[in-house]
Amino acid sequence: MSDAKSSPAGALSAFNLKRWLILLAVVIPLIVTTLLVVLVLQKPFAPPVNVAEQERALAERIQRVGTVALREATRELQTGQQVYMSACMACHAAGVVGAPKFGDTAAWAPRIGAGLERLITSTLQGKGAMGAQGGGAFSDFEIKRAVVYLANASGGNFPEPLAPQAAAQ
Ligand code: HEC
Repeated sequence: MSDAKSSPAGALSAFNLKRWLILLAVVIPLIVTTLLVVLVLQKPFAPPVNVAEQERALAERIQRVGTVALREATRELQTGQQVYMSACMACHAAGVVGAPKFGDTAAWAPRIGAGLERLITSTLQGKGAMGAQGGGAFSDFEIKRAVVYLANASGGNFPEPLAPQAAAQ
């Protein structure tokens, strides 16, 4: 009976341990569930990030004031060089964001090989980091002129596009 004294103490601690275990078994899942609920509620389904769309929105935001007003007015159509200098040069002169550089025949050869229509479509609709119309607001004809100007300065030999009929504008 030497451990008669330790027995009640042992029983007590075993009882305590049981109480703790039951408490933890209830509390821990409760905390985990609460955290999960908070997490789900806080992070509603994030919309997928669309880089091209972001670039286009950025180009739209930084476009020069007045281009839209200009477009509405009856005005003389800009030449390919004018469009290039006002809207395309920003990227194509130095090859910003992976743009094929003006005059870089090696970079342009495969693109020119794909055909003028393809280049025009890419520019009108945007491609990669280039927004629709290169971020500008021109008539399709002006974009065609700019594409021809840019491509021909870079090894292409496309004919100057014909002016659209008045009805087409
Ligand atoms: C924001 C920068 C930027 C501006 C401004 C820009 N471009 Fe681009 N352009 C690019 C990039 C980047 C590419 C390469 C896209 C790719 O192949 O992924 C490209 C590609 C092109 C191509 C080749 C398309 C193809 O199918 O291979 C043409 C043509 C072109 N640009 C014409 C223009 C013209 C014309 C303008 C002005 C109206 C213009 N770009 C303005 C960035 C720009």
